[in-house]
Amino acid sequence: MDASTNCWRGIILLGGPGSGKGTQAALLAQRLGIAHISTGDLFRQNIRMETPLGKLARTYMEKGELVPDEVTVGMVRERLKQPDCANGFILDGFPRTIAQADALNQVLADMRQALTAVLNLQVAPEVLIDRLSRRWTCKSCGAVFPEFSLPPRPGCKKDVCDGELYQRPDDRPETQRHRIEVYREQTAPLEAYYAERGMLIEIDGENSVERVHQLIVDAVGCEDGAAQGER
Ligand code: AP5
Ligand code: ZN
Repeated sequence: MDASTNCWRGIILLGGPGSGKGTQAALLAQRLGIAHISTGDLFRQNIRMETPLGKLARTYMEKGELVPDEVTVGMVRERLKQPDCANGFILDGFPRTIAQADALNQVLADMRQALTAVLNLQVAPEVLIDRLSRRWTCKSCGAVFPEFSLPPRPGCKKDVCDGELYQRPDDRPETQRHRIEVYREQTAPLEAYYAERGMLIEIDGENSVERVHQLIVDAVGCEDGAAQGER
């Protein structure tokens, strides 16, 4: 049997800004051997490369507003066609509106696939603010570091990366609060959307990174990619 086909996974990570979506998506993607797709990272790459998409996205991101649905959906539709999605993917930061969720259903139907899990990382607003205020991000690879675990020498030090660390412009205090508000108004309704479809799994995101990862692994019932390959 073809393990890669049998174990295809389409996982969504929901959660407010700073809830740990990027951190957990990276860990889970590595463990399952599937693609990690962060719409925020895709937009930031486009901003760095000064593409037309990046120029457009920047005007929304700087204010903590959502990039328009049709732009975001088009970008994700193209990304899901890449070969690294053959075994599935974890979506980090997408969908963020009901319209995006409806569009994703259509994209998946076209691919003859269906979501396998929607995980909601629950973290209180004051904890989100604290995490965002202390977050440093690598300009090259997108890795994040809380202030207290910064590498001793400047530079990223994730694997072989030596990228410059910076504080994201949308992590300024006034923008943080607005992003949390935008999440509450436009993205939190997706919790009911997926709960009604029997897909929503709540995860207590205020535990340690390692504990949250274990809760997610237990929830999605996964064996790691290496173990699958050995069968
Ligand atoms: P995006 O980049 O997706 O930002 P976000 O959703 O606000 O999420 P963050 O990246 O801020 O946080 P995270 O949940 O990934 O947490 P992290 O793991 O870094 O989007 C940015 C912007 O792009 C949006 O505002 C919008 O403009 C646009 N955009 C993106 N997607 C869009 C879409 N679909 N539609 C329209 N517009 C879109 O962790 C945070 C910090 O906490 C880190 O320092 C980390 O080290 C630390 N940490 C993580 N877990 C723990 C833990 N368990 N305990 C203690 N510390 C922890
Ligand atoms: Zn890096």
